Amino acid sequence: MVSYKTVAGVFSQISGIYDRFLGLVSAGRIHSLQRRLVELTCKGDAVLDIGTGTGEVLLKAKERAGRPLVGLDPADGMISVAKKKCGECFFVIALGENLPFRDRVFGSVTLSLVFRHLQDQRAFLAEAKRVLKRGGRVGILDVSRFMGTGFLVFLMGTLIRPIGQLIFGRDKWDFFIHSIRESHTPEEVKEMLEDSGFGQIQIEKRLFGLIHIIVGVKTA
Ligand SMILES: C[S@@+](CC[C@H](N)C(=O)[O-])C[C@H]1O[C@@H](n2cnc3c(N)ncnc32)[C@H](O)[C@@H]1O
Repeated sequence: MVSYKTVAGVFSQISGIYDRFLGLVSAGRIHSLQRRLVELTCKGDAVLDIGTGTGEVLLKAKERAGRPLVGLDPADGMISVAKKKCGECFFVIALGENLPFRDRVFGSVTLSLVFRHLQDQRAFLAEAKRVLKRGGRVGILDVSRFMGTGFLVFLMGTLIRPIGQLIFGRDKWDFFIHSIRESHTPEEVKEMLEDSGFGQIQIEKRLFGLIHIIVGVKTA
């Protein structure tokens, strides 16, 4: 298991180049994907963005959402960048699996490229349900598990491990493996949402199925 300290350290270290990197690897598509996440999830009430990183989802939620706009992330380096971009947003250094908020305070909970990084996805979903008001939505945008994922994880854990560890160090390499291994198919995420008590599940597949956006409603 990769420690939270390692995860926060990895993202804090890359916080200065993160936006440019993500723009490059997604060929700029990340912005329309995040806007769609917001469109499907945020319906004019308080927003909690989990793993907010540099705050891009909150910036896109400004127009459609109510207030407050809250971003949560364990990586203080990422939060520092986000604070400069969104003066009216509130930021908290914490984990998605243990939310420091009272019950039923948010209208929506969003996650962009975060779900597969969580160490306990079911614990997070229980927390999301707790902090959402009745009728509130959780929206998950993430990379889908694909046919070669298992093989890639195998290679990273065996053949290419020595070179990976040499370049990135053992902890970071384990973290990369973890976040690929923990990616899910949209159907698996749907099942987890249903098991956690969310209903009216909506699935959108984007970029030839590479990316999914999944929204669930707290119906009771
Ligand atoms: C790939 S970045 C995504 C950032 C941003 N949401 C975006 O779409 O650009 C993943 C973020 O999740 C955060 N993260 C990792 N583990 C987390 C956890 N257990 N709880 C909350 N956030 C976490 C990381 O610190 C990082 O900022």
